[in-house]
Amino acid sequence: MQPIEFYRDEFINYLEKKVQTKEPHNLYEPIDYILGLGGKRLRPVLALLTTELFEGDYKNALDAALAIEVFHNFSLVHDDIMDDAPLRRGKVTVHEKWDINTGILSGDAMLINSYQYFEGYSDATFKELVQLFSKTAIEVCEGQQYDVDFETRDDVTIPEYLKMIEYKTAVLVAAAMKMGAIIAGGSKENQNLVYEFGRNLGIAFQLQDDYLDAFGDPETFGKQVGGDIIENKKTFLYLKALELSSAAERETLLHLYSIAPSDPTEKIEAIKTVFEQSSSVNMTKKEIEGYTQRAFECLKQLNLPEERKEILKIFGENLMQRTV
Ligand code: IPE
Ligand code: IPE
Ligand code: MG
Ligand code: MG
Ligand code: MG
Repeated sequence: MQPIEFYRDEFINYLEKKVQTKEPHNLYEPIDYILGLGGKRLRPVLALLTTELFEGDYKNALDAALAIEVFHNFSLVHDDIMDDAPLRRGKVTVHEKWDINTGILSGDAMLINSYQYFEGYSDATFKELVQLFSKTAIEVCEGQQYDVDFETRDDVTIPEYLKMIEYKTAVLVAAAMKMGAIIAGGSKENQNLVYEFGRNLGIAFQLQDDYLDAFGDPETFGKQVGGDIIENKKTFLYLKALELSSAAERETLLHLYSIAPSDPTEKIEAIKTVFEQSSSVNMTKKEIEGYTQRAFECLKQLNLPEERKEILKIFGENLMQRTV
């Protein structure tokens, strides 16, 4: 196995070779733009890493990794339209730089491209990968719909929220890893264990994303800090705060989540204060830690030499420390 950086660099080289702009420019330039903005490349790196974990060659997983990353970027372009987000990876979002129609169509093309990247796999592997991919992609859509539905509901429960983030975020992380295991020819049992590892890590990851959305550093986070609050997203921070608040704080929170001021600065600050004072922030951090530990439990059960698993442990620990 190689260091994490190696897999990231190899993936980026591959992506740059495979994804190129062509005519019509207004379709392909936004694709090139979003894919060129970088990002952590978490999912493709996990796909390559997992392939090597099961003694496959990471090169065989480059197309699956590319499919996953292009799909992820498609989902971000459409997500930014749905969330009315101005910033992505520190730069202006596709629909703001171009327009909404461009974001829709370039996103559609990316979704189609992502399927095309599987075409090089042999019949049996192709079928397994595409089945997993389609199941995952539909779940992402379901998660995204729940996320939007929850904006206007005031009776969302924590289990509902956890299901929503599992679908919109965690299953893609899990599928990226399972694809690596499939490509390497890992046993069904190991395939399912890495899927569970990825699923738990993905839930921790989205909980942290929600935390950073409110409390991240605007300099490093790359997205509009407070964006979830502006959109009245029913995050773990919000739902826990409601649960833990005094009657007066609860009242404040419910009121603030029902208004849409033209300048949201005060709303954001007031809500963050409630998040902190109700110890919802502490509970969120505990929950992130809890799901990361669950991921590590899955890792323990994997039938592989300990030293091979170490890299995934490091990966998980680094993810918990992230600021971007
Ligand atoms: C952003 O994903 C969307 C979420 C699921 C939170 P990432 O945080 O992996 O985004 P990039 O690709 O690194 O920008
Ligand atoms: C996005 O969740 C998940 C998908 C794109 C499928 P968020 O809306 O929380 O992601 P960010 O914060 O915009 O990256
Ligand atoms: Mg969003
Ligand atoms: Mg969203
Ligand atoms: Mg978010």
